[in-house]
Amino acid sequence: TPPAIIAPSILSANFANLGHDCATKMKEGADWLHVDIMDGHFVPNMTIGCPVVSQIRGCVDRPLEPGSKGTFDCHMMIMEPHKWVKEFQKAGCDLYCFHYEAAVSSVAATDPTDKTTTERTTPRGLIKYIHEQGMQAGIAIKPDTPVDVLWDILESPDQIERPDMVLVMTVHPGFGGQKFMASELPKVSALRARYPDLNIEVDGGLGLGTIDQAADAGANVIVAGSAVFGAADPADVIAKLREAVQK
Ligand code: DX5
Ligand code: ZN
Repeated sequence: TPPAIIAPSILSANFANLGHDCATKMKEGADWLHVDIMDGHFVPNMTIGCPVVSQIRGCVDRPLEPGSKGTFDCHMMIMEPHKWVKEFQKAGCDLYCFHYEAAVSSVAATDPTDKTTTERTTPRGLIKYIHEQGMQAGIAIKPDTPVDVLWDILESPDQIERPDMVLVMTVHPGFGGQKFMASELPKVSALRARYPDLNIEVDGGLGLGTIDQAADAGANVIVAGSAVFGAADPADVIAKLREAVQK
């Protein structure tokens, strides 16, 4: 399993104090910050867009390389994810993680005679496009989506079309503070069995009570919102999450 990466979800921050909260989480030992982008269509909630991402980027040094410390892991819970790649890169995103389900529905909505856009809407084409903009690419699946849809994408013959990370949602996306769905962990185990070096992220309901199951299944990138932000000692929770993955 690759190294543990702890990514507090800033959805649980105080949005009136967002820059300060981001800098504080980094000081408390976070590796990445998980930035939840919601458009009110793909999920029944809205959060922030590029102007806010670019402002908080000013509070956390941009990593020298996407994937290293300070990475903004942008979880794009939006329709038409291909439309926002360049803007988010400029705003400060280092890892652009789109939803498989959103990509597939954009393919259906695109004029087939528009070749460039059609290619960019497919999961493989979108991954390539994200890489061309200098970011890492992630692909996320909701609880209702089987892991089998990913095999073909992970086996892309051209490395530029292969994802750097898979995000297995362990809640229905849209809100922080929901109950962890252990039913999603077999997806993580299946991915880990085939891909020993892949970054596998879990998101939703992770905390000290659920981390062991997720770590045992093979997850190494751990998102935690309420468990970190709601803790009396966030640094201690971050350290314990890391220990659980590494043990
Ligand atoms: C939910 C978001 C999560 C959320 C996790 O749709 O994708 O990142 O912030 O929050 P917790 O850790 O509180 O479940
Ligand atoms: Zn998320």
